[in-house]
Amino acid sequence: MKIISSIEELRDQMRGQLRTSFVPTMGNLHEGHLSLMRLARKHGDPVVASIFVNRLQFGPNEDFDKYPRTFQADVEKLEKEGVYVLFAPTERDLYPEPQEFRVRPPDDLGNTLEGEFRPGFFTGVTTVVLKLFSCVQPRVAVFGKKDYQQLMIVRNMSKQFALPTEIIAAETFRAADGLALSSRNAYLSPEERIEAPVLYQTLNEVADEVRSGHLDIWELERKAMAKLADRLWKPDYISIRRRSDLQPPSAGDIANKEPLVVLAAAKLGVTRLIDNLEI
Ligand code: PAF
Repeated sequence: MKIISSIEELRDQMRGQLRTSFVPTMGNLHEGHLSLMRLARKHGDPVVASIFVNRLQFGPNEDFDKYPRTFQADVEKLEKEGVYVLFAPTERDLYPEPQEFRVRPPDDLGNTLEGEFRPGFFTGVTTVVLKLFSCVQPRVAVFGKKDYQQLMIVRNMSKQFALPTEIIAAETFRAADGLALSSRNAYLSPEERIEAPVLYQTLNEVADEVRSGHLDIWELERKAMAKLADRLWKPDYISIRRRSDLQPPSAGDIANKEPLVVLAAAKLGVTRLIDNLEI
């Protein structure tokens, strides 16, 4: 595997490659990321991964400085997956001057759910993803459904800018007890790790209620938030949305069995976890 940090060198290396499959990451790789690499391999060749902890998508009080950085272990894992190039730019490589041009997602998609609780987050994500796409020039790129809203925003960006990159969605990789794998799980204490699967269990309970015909989604959301709060979680949201545009469904949407997704974000101790489940 070639490890490349400069954009110029990456361009030289990738010249003439027409079927590149790309997986952008912020490192601290776990099985979930490796499943993205395997899916990428099915959709193209060569596979390029990137590791870049993108300052633009972290708020001033978020965990940019303490975000886990495990570069050597990540390299070994990517080598085993047969990744062809690891693009690992430094901040100076990717942002040699202040990144003043930004890509701002539309308000209805970018300022709801995660966007409401993490202002500027999606602008940081789309800006770096567009820049990484411009460096790697992939034919396909793989994003996990764990970050459901991110996946939808990147997909819409790619479509609206007519980028030549198809966005592939990968299913969420879960531990045996249901907890979605995430780099931030590393912050959980042993007791919190035992409690953490309750988030996914709660999503399943909400989904079951909707499937069995419960129409009052506001009441379902309220009950689910109260359950987490009783267990000492601090929920930001549990929200049932239309899969198509992540807007709240109308009564008619629910009656007509419009495809839905329930999304959640909640803090357990100092760790903020997100998850979702398609209904
Ligand atoms: O999902 C992530 O790890 C990041 O948001 C991404 C897509 C690599 C952009 O920094």
